[in-house]
Amino acid sequence: MEKGKKLSILDLRAMKEKKEKIAWLTSYDFPTAQFAEAAGMEMILVGDSLGMCVYGYEGTVPVTMEQCLVHSEAVRRGAPNTFVVGDMPFMSYQRSDEDAVWNAGRFLKEAGVDAIKLEGGKRVISRIRAILDAGIVVCGHIGLTPQSSGQLGGHKAQGRTLDSAKLLVEDALAIEGAGAHLLLLEAVPPEVAGFIAKRLKIPVFSIGAGPYCDGQLLIVSDLIGQFQAFTPKFVKRYANVAEVVTNAMKDYVKDVKAGAFPADEHCYHMVKGEDSKFEEFVRTLK
Ligand code: KIV
Repeated sequence: MEKGKKLSILDLRAMKEKKEKIAWLTSYDFPTAQFAEAAGMEMILVGDSLGMCVYGYEGTVPVTMEQCLVHSEAVRRGAPNTFVVGDMPFMSYQRSDEDAVWNAGRFLKEAGVDAIKLEGGKRVISRIRAILDAGIVVCGHIGLTPQSSGQLGGHKAQGRTLDSAKLLVEDALAIEGAGAHLLLLEAVPPEVAGFIAKRLKIPVFSIGAGPYCDGQLLIVSDLIGQFQAFTPKFVKRYANVAEVVTNAMKDYVKDVKAGAFPADEHCYHMVKGEDSKFEEFVRTLK
C-alpha cells in the first residue's frame, strides 16, 4: 500500500486478497498515535481496554462513551492518516438498536473515527445491521469478548471444543452475512481462526488467535511494556517502557536531591546588561 495514505475498507479488502498482512495496534492518546502512524501502522483501535491501560480499572465494563470519545479524538489528531476504529463501550449498544446507532454515530461525528467495533455474534446482528444502515463501517468482535466475560466464566479462550468452535463459525458467518466490513477474533485457537479467515471474504484479525488471520492486533501498553498488572499469553513484548521510564524518574529524583538539576543550560538568563541593573536594584533593597 502507498506510504502515508489513509487506507479504506476497499484497501483492507484488497490486502486480504493479496495475502498482505495488516498491522493493527491500540492507542489511547496523541503521542502514541503519532508513534503508531510514524511506524507504518495500518490501523489503530481506540479500545475500551483504555479502562485498564489508562484509568487503572480492573476491566472494561466501567468505561463510558465520554472516555472513549475523548481518547478517540486525541488519537485521530495524532494519526490523521491512519484507519482508526472506535470501540463501543459496555452499555453503549446493549440496550437497543437506537442506542447503538446513536453512539456509533457519535464516534464519527465527535471523534472522526473511520469505523466502530462492537462485541458479540448472532445476538448483536440487529445492532450491526442498524449501524450499517446509518452508513457506518462496522468491525465485529467474537471469541473472548471482555465486556461479557462474566458469562464466559472469566477471560478464557473460546473455540477450544468442537461445540464452541461451531458457535464461533456461526457467529462469524452471521456477522459477515449482516454486512460487517471487518472481524476481530480474540483468544481463539489458530486452527479455528484460520478456517474463519479463509472462509470469510472480509478481513479477519487476530488478537491471540494465531498467525493465519489477515492481520494482527495487539494492545500498545502490552507491546511497549507499559501495562504491569498481567500479560496475556498471546502478547509479544517489544520494549520495556516501564523500566525505561521508572529509571528516568529515579535519575530525576537523584539529581533533584543532589542539586544536579537544573544545570546552567536549563536556565533562562537575563538579557545582557539587564543582569547588572537587577543587581543594582537588589542593592537598593538592602
Ligand atoms: O479494547 C480493546 O483493546 C479490545 C481488544 C482487547 C480486542 O477490544
